[in-house]
Amino acid sequence: MTEIIEISQLTKKYGTTDVLKGIDLTIHQGEVFGFVGHNGSGKSTFIHTITGITNKNSGFFKIKDIPDAQIDKSKKIIGVMPDVSNLYEHMRGVHFLQYMGKLSGDRRSKRDYITLMKEVGLEGDEKKRIKSYSFGMKKKICIAQALLGNPDLIILDEPTSGLDPESAIKIRNIVKKYQKLGKTILLTSHNLDEIDKVSDRVGILSNGVIKKLGTPRQLKEETGVGINISVRTKPILQRNDIQMLSKKLEMVVNFVENKKEYTLLQVASEEEILTLSRELIESGVQLYELKVEQCSLEEVFMNTK
Ligand SMILES: Nc1ncnc2c1ncn2[C@@H]1O[C@H](COP(=O)(O)OP(=O)(O)OP(=O)(O)O)[C@@H](O)[C@H]1O
Ligand SMILES: [Mg+2]
Repeated sequence: MTEIIEISQLTKKYGTTDVLKGIDLTIHQGEVFGFVGHNGSGKSTFIHTITGITNKNSGFFKIKDIPDAQIDKSKKIIGVMPDVSNLYEHMRGVHFLQYMGKLSGDRRSKRDYITLMKEVGLEGDEKKRIKSYSFGMKKKICIAQALLGNPDLIILDEPTSGLDPESAIKIRNIVKKYQKLGKTILLTSHNLDEIDKVSDRVGILSNGVIKKLGTPRQLKEETGVGINISVRTKPILQRNDIQMLSKKLEMVVNFVENKKEYTLLQVASEEEILTLSRELIESGVQLYELKVEQCSLEEVFMNTK
């Protein structure tokens, strides 16, 4: 696997506050990496540090093999969403993108800039001045800016916060589309459901370090709250049946409750679901339905100290 970002023991202080206390992280080329953490945990600081907007205090990082000492070179391969407050308010949307495009060596035609605006959900707003844009519209033009110049690495800091649900879905689709084109996307969001849907791997930043790292599925399994499953069987399974089954299979199957014709159970891993369903069928129970309700990333997040 090729790494596009390699970070070792990265630290960043603001005044006397240690924001990043030693970040170790590698991001693979072509993946969507979701970065989450509480307000003020340092996600934006991290992005500012690895994109050269602010200076690190110590540690090292490389972007596509370019060491941080030559960060100006790596800027050419990074598309980063600016802060909405850094937009040129007096410019018209499409002119702003053309202007920024020229600066980043983007060679698309005017018509293609209009297509890009349509892609992010700004169809019909091309000629309006940015100062007349709503917050969500400004956010969208910032996302469009990050896509200029055909960057290999696209960094989006809270691209969907403040967007209506339809626009947020549009942005999620853009992320998927650019990943298919071979791009790597690093994004932050407080919407954990969205992070779950879009990310190949997730990192949880807490107290200045990456506390949890893995695929959404790994993180959910590791959290150890177990996998909730509901089964619809005939006869309906009772607590007693589950206790006996548990003993026979030598694994922990927790009986949670009976809800109408469903029995809610909890197991530790996916493999156990297989073992359990096989055993049920072999023992003559008629299994009509088995639904897996994995714990959510929200639960993982709430269990990260
Ligand atoms: N330019 C700055 N000068 C001084 N302190 C800063 C600066 N930028 C960020 N900080 C501090 O660094 C810490 C991390 O802030 P940061 O904006 O990186 O958090 P975040 O994880 O992006 O939060 P949010 O989810 O609210 O966007 C906070 O304590 C913040 O006050
Ligand atoms: Mg932030």
